[in-house]
Amino acid sequence: MSLLRSNAMKFLSICIIISLILTFIISVLPISLEPCNCESYIESHNSIHNDVQNKKYYNSIINSLNIGNKKKLAIVVPFRDRFDELLEFAPHMNKFLTEQGVPHHIFIVNQIDRFRFNRAALINVGFLFVKDHFDYIAMHDVDLLPINKDLKYEYPESPLHIAAPGLHPKYHYPSFIGGILLLKNDHFELVNGMSTKYWGWGLEDDEFYVRLKDAGLEIIRPQNIKTNMTNTFVHNHDRLHRRRDTLKCYNQKEETRKRDRKTGLNTMKYNINARKELDIDGVRVTVLNVKLECDKNLTPWCDCTEMPKESKLKSKGRR
Ligand SMILES: *[C@@H]1O[C@H](CO)[C@@H](O)[C@H](O)[C@H]1NC(C)=O
Repeated sequence: MSLLRSNAMKFLSICIIISLILTFIISVLPISLEPCNCESYIESHNSIHNDVQNKKYYNSIINSLNIGNKKKLAIVVPFRDRFDELLEFAPHMNKFLTEQGVPHHIFIVNQIDRFRFNRAALINVGFLFVKDHFDYIAMHDVDLLPINKDLKYEYPESPLHIAAPGLHPKYHYPSFIGGILLLKNDHFELVNGMSTKYWGWGLEDDEFYVRLKDAGLEIIRPQNIKTNMTNTFVHNHDRLHRRRDTLKCYNQKEETRKRDRKTGLNTMKYNINARKELDIDGVRVTVLNVKLECDKNLTPWCDCTEMPKESKLKSKGRR
């Protein structure tokens, strides 16, 4: 009997302790029933994952385009901290493509995590976001504006490199495919998108070049262009103001020179925290706030801040 009573007492005191702990946790948690300023966040967050909302969202874009029987182009812009360039980019591209009669929409894929910039991963995110609603993508630098009207952003039966080595203001090596590259959805999927191992600036496009080659895809470039590297594009790049993140830490230098057969579309880990619509001089632009995840076992160089100073060697990269 006394055994039973002491057990009951134990049970009771455990219950009391647990409820005290729970009360404490609940009071500490940021969940509250007070009104908060997070409504627009929740709304846009839900709308990304809610099929009905999503359909409405895409319909509103598609309906605003003049499509006819044409293919739809999604301009996918990997982005961080380039607001002034975006303000120029959106109206320019809209005018340029509207004159060509290319139905298009601009998607700004804005990296908001605290890792180093990952251009390729952002392009993958953009592709996954648009692929069911658009026919082809242009992976597009925000600082490179085409000014020769003969550069046709047409549906690419084979990967179409607009910023060709003879035309790009800065990069002229034959296997260069950066800047502006158009792919139809099938081809981007065929090569599993881009490698996500490239944190910091450079080389991700060179790895992508090998992916296309290995898949037997021929890269085509604009034909009969009368302009050259000085007057085909406006390059809004201020080298001193926009310092490139050419840091190399851990074994980055070695690892990023290898062909990557592992990462790509099917290994993407990220979260779209918000989707916002901007109006820039009457041009509607979609901004995706994206938090990339980094597997620090695979790519510790997504964050170089913990490295001792002496190993933060500045690379003498090719550019
Ligand atoms: C590029 O084209 C412009 C205009 O036709 C010409 O003046 C210039 O010399 C050319 N530059 C090069 C490097 O060919």
